[in-house]
Amino acid sequence: MIILGIETSCDETAISVVQASGGLKKPAFQVLAQVVSSQAKLHAPFGGVVPMLAKREHGKNLLPLLKEAIKQSKVTGKSKKFNESYKNKLKKILEREPELLEQFLQFIPLLPVPKIDCVAVTRGPGLEPALWVGINFARALALVWEKPLVPVNHMIGHIYSVLASPTKPTLTFPALALLVSGGHTELVLIKNWFEHKVIGRTLDDAVGEAFDKAARVLGLPYPGGPEISKLAKEWQGLTFCRLPRPMLHSGDFNFSFSGLKTAILYSAQKLAEANGGKLRAEDKVTLAYEFEQAAVEVLVKKLAKAVAKFEPRTVIIAGGVAANQELRRQAELMITSSASKLLISDLQLSTDNATMIAIASYLQIQKKVKSPQKFNAAGNLILS
Ligand code: KG4
Ligand code: ZN
Repeated sequence: MIILGIETSCDETAISVVQASGGLKKPAFQVLAQVVSSQAKLHAPFGGVVPMLAKREHGKNLLPLLKEAIKQSKVTGKSKKFNESYKNKLKKILEREPELLEQFLQFIPLLPVPKIDCVAVTRGPGLEPALWVGINFARALALVWEKPLVPVNHMIGHIYSVLASPTKPTLTFPALALLVSGGHTELVLIKNWFEHKVIGRTLDDAVGEAFDKAARVLGLPYPGGPEISKLAKEWQGLTFCRLPRPMLHSGDFNFSFSGLKTAILYSAQKLAEANGGKLRAEDKVTLAYEFEQAAVEVLVKKLAKAVAKFEPRTVIIAGGVAANQELRRQAELMITSSASKLLISDLQLSTDNATMIAIASYLQIQKKVKSPQKFNAAGNLILS
C-alpha cells in the first residue's frame, strides 16, 4: 500500500510518500518521496522552538511540500470533479488555520486525487499548536480524497524509522530501543510489534535538549547537537576538563542531564574568568568534546547494562541525537561484545521526518490497531 505521511510535531514540516509491503512478517518500505522543511534558522535567535512561530510556518509550508512530495513520488492520479459539499466541512476543519484554508481551497480542488491508500499524521507527543496544523491538514486531505486517516505516536515513528534503511534490515524481537531526541531520552523494551515498555527515562532534561543548552553556553547556534559535535572533532588532547557522568551508577535505567548542563556552564564561567572574562576558542573545543563524551558515555553504558539484562535480539537507536557520530561509534563498539544486532536510523531519518510516520502507520494497520477518525493533538502522549 502507498501511504502519505505528515509530521509537524516540532520545528520540521515533513511529508513523505512511502510504499509499504510484506505485512508484519516481513515489512519492507520504499521511500517514494521525503521532503522536509526545517525551521531551525527561524528559531535559532530564540535558542529553542517557539510554538506559535512553528505553527505559522507549518501552515505556510504544508501545501508547497505536498505538491513537491506528490511530484517526486509520481503518485499523481486521475482528475476527479471536486465535491462542492466538502467546502463547508473544510472551512470547519481548517478554521484555526485561515491562511492554510485559503490556499487549500484554491489548490486542492484542482489537484488530481493521488494514488495513495491512506493519510498518516503525527498525533503527539510534541508542541500542541504545531501538531494541530498537521492534524487538521491531514484531516482535510483525508476528507477530500476520501482516504482513511491514521494517527501515529511520534516516538513509535522514531523506533520503527530504522526499517526505512535501504539495507532492508529485519527486526527480530525482543528488541530494545534507545530513543534520544530533543524532547525524549528513553529506553524501551519491545516484546513484539507495539508491545512497548519504557524501562528507563530521563528524570529532567532530554539529552538533545542538554546538547542544545550546552551549545548556548558555548555561544553556538540552535540546534546545538550537530554544532557541539563539529567542535568536539577539533579536540587534539592539548587541554582537559572533566564533566560529571550523571546517574551512571544509579542501578536503574533512568537518566539525568540537567546537572551536566549546569556543570558545563560553571566550567565555562571558570575558564572564562581565568582568561580575562572571555572563553578561549581552545577551551570551547575542550568543553564541547568533554560534554559529548559525558553524554555519550552515560547513554552507551546504560544501554549496555540493559542489553546485558534483557538480552534483546535487536538494539535500536533512534531520534535526533542518533545522528551523533560519537554515539554511533561507541554503540557499535559496545554491541560487538553482545549477541544483539544493532540498528541505528539512517542520518536523514534520525531527525524528524514523515517517512517514519508512514512506516509506523503501516505497522499499526497490519497490527489491526483501531484508528479513531476523530482525535486531538496530544502534546504529552507517552509510549504505552
Ligand atoms: O528527533 P528530533 O529531530 O526532534 C525531536 O523530536 O526532538 O531531535 C532533535 C534533537 C535536537 O536537540 C538536536 O540538537 C539533536 O537532536 N541532534 C543532535 C545531533 N543532531 C541532532 N545531537 C547530538 N549530535 C548530533 N549530531
Ligand atoms: Zn522527534
